[in-house]
Formats: sequence, structure tokens, C-alpha cells
Amino acid sequence: MSKALNTIRNQAGSAPIEATLILGSGLSAVADLLAEQVVIPFADLEGFPQGGVSGHGKDLVIGQMGSKRIAILTGRQHYYEHGDAAAMRPALETMSELGAGTLMLTNSAGSLDTDVRPGNLMLISDHLNYAGANPLIGEPTDARFVNMVDAYDPELRATTHAVASRLEIALKEGVYMWYSGPSFETPAEIRMARTLGCDAVGMSTVPEVILGRFLGLRVWACSSITNMGAGMAQETISHTQTKEVAKYGAEKLKRLIPALMEEI
Ligand code: HPA
Repeated sequence: MSKALNTIRNQAGSAPIEATLILGSGLSAVADLLAEQVVIPFADLEGFPQGGVSGHGKDLVIGQMGSKRIAILTGRQHYYEHGDAAAMRPALETMSELGAGTLMLTNSAGSLDTDVRPGNLMLISDHLNYAGANPLIGEPTDARFVNMVDAYDPELRATTHAVASRLEIALKEGVYMWYSGPSFETPAEIRMARTLGCDAVGMSTVPEVILGRFLGLRVWACSSITNMGAGMAQETISHTQTKEVAKYGAEKLKRLIPALMEEI
């Protein structure tokens, strides 16, 4: 058993966890939703995100969301921090060993769709791996040849749309383009991404989706839109703006996720 798995079982017990939720930039308030919380700092968990990016939390929070026992990672590691696309693998493997069969990912993203504005959510239906890195490079087994058709679970997406419409939360779905960052895109790159059929752009999530499918998890991902893509609006894109605007998306996710959790 890995050291992290041991620490989690010792502190939070060994009751199975239904789902793992990973929170993106400015979204860590979503963890407030859990009742009977056990908070374990990533610093105490070998292989969990160390270092970190401002606007992200640094804890694993395990607790109850309605009738379900959920684990929330209040932050993640990004490829742009060190060039390691597999950095989230130990944490995802640990959560999978704890029984979490569903992986729910959130992020902050720039919108490429003029109908999806800052403060809106966009459910991810597919992705384009423009960073070109892959967390399974170096994996020696045949399990590395992961099928990516329907990587974003169609049934979960359909349920999410039904829940969002019941809660009157506007929710379009679209294709997310993974850009390595940490610099933002150029306007030319945004024009390219739109031409290629992408609807949002961001610096995370895709490596975790690939790892999640590798581990046989059911994957769900949703972007909180913090800005329009570079060159699409007059505003100056910045990380400060990402953190500031993300709170509007966080409020919607705090309504959407618990309602969705009851349906899955
Ligand atoms: N590009 C990449 N990542 C982002 C953006 C963006 O415009 N906004 C928030 N995260």
C-alpha cells in the first residue's frame, strides 16, 4: 500500500469514496460543500500536488456531499510547473485505490464561443491535445493504448444537462483545447483553435482525463469561463482576472455538483 493511501485511511477511515473532484484556479471554495470534513494537507501525502499555483488550494478534503462520500483535491499540478504531464498520476492512482470510480475535473478557461461568456460554465465533451504531451509516455504496458472515444462520459454529460436545466444554470458543452501555458495564447493561436473547432482553452485537465481513462475511471469535466480567448475582447487577460472571475463559476458549480452527485 502506498504511504499516501495509508495516511488517508488512517485519518479518514476506509469507507469507500464515490468520486474524486479536482478544483481548478479560483474554485477551491467548492470544497466548503462537504460535511463531516477530514482535511489532509497535500504536504502530508506523498505524490500529491506539492508547490502549487496561487488561487489553488493545497488540501485533500474528504467528506459527505448529500448521501455520497466524496474526496476533493482543492488544487492540482500543471504541466507548466515542471514539464511533467504525469504529475497527477500518483494522486489519481491513490484515489482510484480508495474506490473512487468517478473522476470529476474542473478548471478555469478562456471561451472561444461568443455565446459562452465569463461567469458561464461549459461542460467538456471532448478535447484537443495541443500541448502534445501525454502522461502515459513511458508507461510500459499495453494499457497505455487508451481509447479516447467518449472519454467524457456521455451518460454523465446527459445527466448534467438535465440537472443544469432544472436548476436554470445555462450550460453549453464543447471541445477544450489544452495549451501548455504558462503564457496565455496569442490571438493567432486563438484564431487557430476556433478554426479547429475548439470552444474553450486552458492549461490543465487533459492529462488527468487521459490518466483517468487509463485507470478505468468514469470522467466528467467542466470549465468555469473566466475570459474570452486572447484577441476576442478588449480586456487584458491575466491570472488575477482568472482568480477574480472564477468565483462566479464557483457559485454555479456549488449548486450544480451536489445536485448532480445525487443522480449518479
Ligand atoms: N487561456 C488559457 N488558460 C486560461 C485562460 C485562457 O484564456 N483563462 C483561464 N485559464
